Parts: sequence; structure tokens; C-alpha cells
Amino acid sequence: MDQIEERYPFHRAFNIEGGNFTHAGSISSQVKRILKEEGLPSDVIRRMSIATFEAEMNVICYARWGILTLLVTSDFLKVVVDDEGVGIQDVDLAMKEGFSTADERIRELGFGAGMGLSNIKKVTDEMVLTSVVNEGTHLEFTIHLNPVENFNEVSTPAMGRMSG
Ligand SMILES: Nc1ncnc2c1ncn2[C@@H]1O[C@H](COP(=O)(O)OP(=O)(O)OP(=O)(O)O)[C@@H](O)[C@H]1O
Ligand SMILES: [Mg+2]
Repeated sequence: MDQIEERYPFHRAFNIEGGNFTHAGSISSQVKRILKEEGLPSDVIRRMSIATFEAEMNVICYARWGILTLLVTSDFLKVVVDDEGVGIQDVDLAMKEGFSTADERIRELGFGAGMGLSNIKKVTDEMVLTSVVNEGTHLEFTIHLNPVENFNEVSTPAMGRMSG
């Protein structure tokens, strides 16, 4: 724990190119590697990787470009994603399991089940989603490193579609 403490706080930003599926999942893989290197608990890494993957895919699927920032402190892990794109008309509706505006191309690639945002909500301790139509979307989520709060074991089918 002393070693981890010394290296905090940590932050790193990644660019995400909308519409480019070639390296889909590469940012969440990098985040996963960083968290492993930081020596974080495996359950925390697993939950953060799921949420980051879903957030990355949503920028690729629905926005023009975005920036994903990873923040690590001794108390929490936080990811902030800001994108420029079509935005979300009804955030509450977008959060509902099964709601999706994915087109045929996205569905052919195995996405568009309408599960991403609800998965992020499930695996994180806090989630904030705001959007301005035709401007972009702001998403942030946090996992607390307090062991009591981390006793939030969940299993989700999202794992099956992650790379890395
Ligand atoms: N960054 C974003 N910009 C614009 N629209 C978004 C964004 N993220 C999500 N949405 C909208 O919210 C809907 C629901 O997103 P969610 O991630 O839950 O499901 P999905 O991406 O459609 O499918 P899945 O995540 O299961 O592959 C999307 O279909 C899209 O309409
Ligand atoms: Mg999604």
C-alpha cells in the first residue's frame, strides 16, 4: 500500500476517434494495464475495465471524437469522458437497459444491445451523465477504494465482449 500511495495521484488522458473501430477497446486495455501496474485489487480493475470499455465504445459508436481521462488517487478511481457529437436527447431513456439507437453497422459488430450505460452504472459507485444535443456528452464515473464500499460484487455479461 505504501508503494501505491507514493505514486498517487495519477492522471492520464486518451483521445478517442469516433467511428474508428480498428482499435476499439485499446484505451480500456491500456487503462486495465495501468491499474494492474498500480497494484489495485483485481475486482476494482475488473469493474473499471468494464466501465471504461463501455464508455470508449460509446464514443466510437456515437460521437465524432472524445477525450477519456483516468484519475487515480489513494481514495478513488475516476474516469471522465467528454465527447463532441450528436449528444443524447433523453439521458434517462438512454440509461434504460435495451434502449439503443445503434445502426446496422454497429449491430453487425456486436454492439447496440443497449446495455453499456446500465452496465457502467452497475459496476461503479457513482456515475454522472449529461449531454447537449448536437454538441456532445459528458460522462464520469468513480469507484471508491474504501474496502467496505468495494464489497459490491457484481457479475455482468459485458466481460464476454471485452478485449484484453
Ligand atoms: N457518447 C454518446 N453520444 C451520443 N449518444 C450516446 C452516447 N453514449 C450513449 N449514447 C446513446 O445512448 C444509447 C444507449 O447507450 P448504451 O451504451 O447503453 O447502449 P448501446 O451503445 O446502444 O449498446 P451496447 O452498449 O450494449 O453495445 C445509445 O444507443 C445512444 O443512442
Ligand atoms: Mg454502448
